[in-house]
Amino acid sequence: MEYLLEIKNLKTHFNTKEGIVKAVNGISYGLKKGETVSIVGESGSGKSVSVLSIMRLLPPYAKINGEIIFKGENLLTYDDKKMRKIRGNNISMIFQDPMSSLNPTIKIGQQIMEPLLWHHKVSKNEARHKTIQILTEVGIPSAKERFHQYPFEFSGGMRQRVMIAMALISEPDLLIADEPTTSLDVTVQAQILQLIRKIQEKRGTSVILITHNLAVATMVSDYIIVMYGGRIVEKATTEEFLKKPLHPYTLGLLNSIPILKSKKSLNTIPGQPPNLRELEEVGCPFAKRCGKKMSRCEEENPPRIELSDTHIVYCWLYE
Ligand SMILES: Nc1ncnc2c1ncn2[C@@H]1O[C@H](COP(=O)(O)OP(=O)(O)OP(=O)(O)O)[C@@H](O)[C@H]1O
Ligand SMILES: [Mg+2]
Repeated sequence: MEYLLEIKNLKTHFNTKEGIVKAVNGISYGLKKGETVSIVGESGSGKSVSVLSIMRLLPPYAKINGEIIFKGENLLTYDDKKMRKIRGNNISMIFQDPMSSLNPTIKIGQQIMEPLLWHHKVSKNEARHKTIQILTEVGIPSAKERFHQYPFEFSGGMRQRVMIAMALISEPDLLIADEPTTSLDVTVQAQILQLIRKIQEKRGTSVILITHNLAVATMVSDYIIVMYGGRIVEKATTEEFLKKPLHPYTLGLLNSIPILKSKKSLNTIPGQPPNLRELEEVGCPFAKRCGKKMSRCEEENPPRIELSDTHIVYCWLYE
């Protein structure tokens, strides 16, 4: 099957006064229709910047290189006008911080309806009807009344649902969810993820989910991508990821998941994530923290090892 989205050697660097921040350093992956991929990795590994590059929602001092092929066309060749159309119709994003993406002075219904009125040229009545329908679908009770309320009248979990409704109203081909549940309590998190899954199954939407939570990633995704220092270190189906995780960083992440009832203290990965300003162009970004480091790890880029069509690891250990 053809890819809906294919990312080829994506690099995103920020030219700041203090130097170049190498946030994303040559990542590649493909996503088919209806698939979910989770991107995991520590804070600062470039997860958000990688998807904001797809959406092209970055400041002008961000330099994006590589190819982002969506439905056969390279989005990096699109101008702002074409990108706005893609963002409103084909690709939607749920942002890391829901409060900052809702306008506190505009009623909820109005905010959800806006993209419909902008892009689809439907009548106001139709848009209102569709909005109430989608609010109901995402589990907002009394959606008709809620339509006329302001964001502050909604709880955190409800606002997160509103964000999902906003992202889905245009029935996008691709939904990008950047930590959509981190600020919520566990039961609400599960509900929201179930909801995304349900809607995805119904509509055949492809999903990129960014999460710190490996348990969440393994529950909802077909594939898992592990990022470190702006690079992909391992990529596998969820099954392969659980059965045979290989990269020392992946193993570190898996070992740091708390297991209930276990009295053993948690294993953490020693050391700090790399400073992306001083990131070396060559060598494995994880080498400095890696317990299995060899001398070549800091001198040469790790090889791309293909364990199966779907399981790829970038590491000298498996050469
Ligand atoms: N607009 C910007 N200007 C300069 N540097 C930026 C900008 N946005 C992000 N960065 C830097 O890019 C790097 C990657 O950031 P990113 O937000 O992608 O991390 P992340 O993996 O999403 O982390 P988190 O899990 O905390 O959300 C960080 O070092 C960050 O400081
Ligand atoms: Mg982020």
